[in-house]
Amino acid sequence: MAKNIVVIGAQWGDEGKGKIVDWLAEECAGVVRFQGGHNAGHTLVVNGKKTVLRLIPSGILHENLHCYIGSGVVVSPEALLGEIDELTAAGVKNVAGRLHIAPTCPMILPYHIALDHAREASKGAGKIGTTGRGIGPAYEDKVSRRAIRLGDLADAKLLADKLRANLEVYNVQLQHLHDAEPVQFDDVMAKINAFKERILPMLADVSSSLHDTIQRGERLLFEGAQGTLLDIDYGTYPFVTSSNCLAGAASAGAGVPPQALDYVLGIVKAYTTRVGSGPFPTELFDDTGKGLAERGNEFGSVTGRARRCGWFDAAALKRAIQINGISGLCITKLDVMDGIPEIKICTGYTLPDGSTTDILPFGSDAVAGCTPIYETLPGWKESTFGVQSFDQLPENAKGYLQRIEALCGAPIAIVSTGPDRVETIVLQHPFTN
Ligand code: GDP
Ligand code: IMO
Ligand code: MG
Repeated sequence: MAKNIVVIGAQWGDEGKGKIVDWLAEECAGVVRFQGGHNAGHTLVVNGKKTVLRLIPSGILHENLHCYIGSGVVVSPEALLGEIDELTAAGVKNVAGRLHIAPTCPMILPYHIALDHAREASKGAGKIGTTGRGIGPAYEDKVSRRAIRLGDLADAKLLADKLRANLEVYNVQLQHLHDAEPVQFDDVMAKINAFKERILPMLADVSSSLHDTIQRGERLLFEGAQGTLLDIDYGTYPFVTSSNCLAGAASAGAGVPPQALDYVLGIVKAYTTRVGSGPFPTELFDDTGKGLAERGNEFGSVTGRARRCGWFDAAALKRAIQINGISGLCITKLDVMDGIPEIKICTGYTLPDGSTTDILPFGSDAVAGCTPIYETLPGWKESTFGVQSFDQLPENAKGYLQRIEALCGAPIAIVSTGPDRVETIVLQHPFTN
């Protein structure tokens, strides 16, 4: 019986992780974010009311549940406090009291955001298309061992010394490499002093709390951000984010042993989307692609940018299954495929040398050289929106799902047919399998 589930995106992000985490959280004691930052945008819909979460784990709407932010997450205190205030104003109880954050999380400060923007502007057409939230520069500070971490807020002298040293590095880059305005020490310090007293009480030994929860036999959910194909090592590098978004990152990023992770739930849309630059083999530039974008409301929940849309890519999912060890799949947004006369699935690629492969290669250049090989399936005219049982799906929708399962080699555990919690079909519940 699975106790602890890791939920990860198996495509390029925005697969619907937030909806599914919120739905599964009903039966859990805690939800943990383990990587990424407020580049994530996770949408929850409960009784028609929409909530978009960026840093706070997608379990917060469940009143007695505890939410954790592990050391693998880069935290913008200003964004976090803004989100807490929004949720509180919307009537969510005791948000700050239920949020426990590792003091070892690197902080995102204004100079990270300034450099993220300056770099993208300098790159022009070659830009990554980042969310502009300072994520990349904050992770750079972490690996170069100069990050200012949340725990440093408790030591005013250490904080000031680190900030001064970091601004020397950043302002040289901003002014001399990017012709941008320098960031002033006093301005950053004023911001830190404004948020410090609200952040410090939320800092806690997240690892020990998770350990204790596991010892008590209670369930935990580990909530991934972004998606496998945006992973810093295995994604379409350099058009990726700056963290590992794989299931394996949950252990290091939350501070729990790998044996504590019982089940990996891979979330995939019934088609594919990507926001930002980089190769996308099954991208559609025709009316079918436009139809998916319109029906799927494919606009980024963080930046509002239009998401690029394309056919389902089984060869990409095969790679995601391989490197995440996906125990079960959740196929979301099946309803968005309603009414398409013929549906294509990418089963592999022809490579530039004429050979073929059935699994996505690594890195941007290799993926850019992939020409999809498609098989065509009949679509369905009926609406699947809100359907809650597999038996009630049109035969061709069932056939589409079964073909995906056969091509990828992982069982489908859940199908999502609408944005609301209840618009969900359960085939094999992750907690009982
Ligand atoms: P995340 O980043 O993986 O949590 O996904 P996002 O929240 O960024 O994007 C998913 C979008 O699809 C959100 O607007 C959800 O409300 C919506 N959504 C999720 N599941 C379904 C579904 O099954 N059908 C439809 N039509 N919309 C869905
Ligand atoms: P969720 O958790 C989709 C993309 C950006 C850009 C690249 C790098 O909602 O699925 P970054 O700001 O991280 O340095 O940008 O990664 N990206 C996402 N795309 N969903 C996300 O998160 C994303 N987070 C980052 O668009 O292409
Ligand atoms: Mg999202």
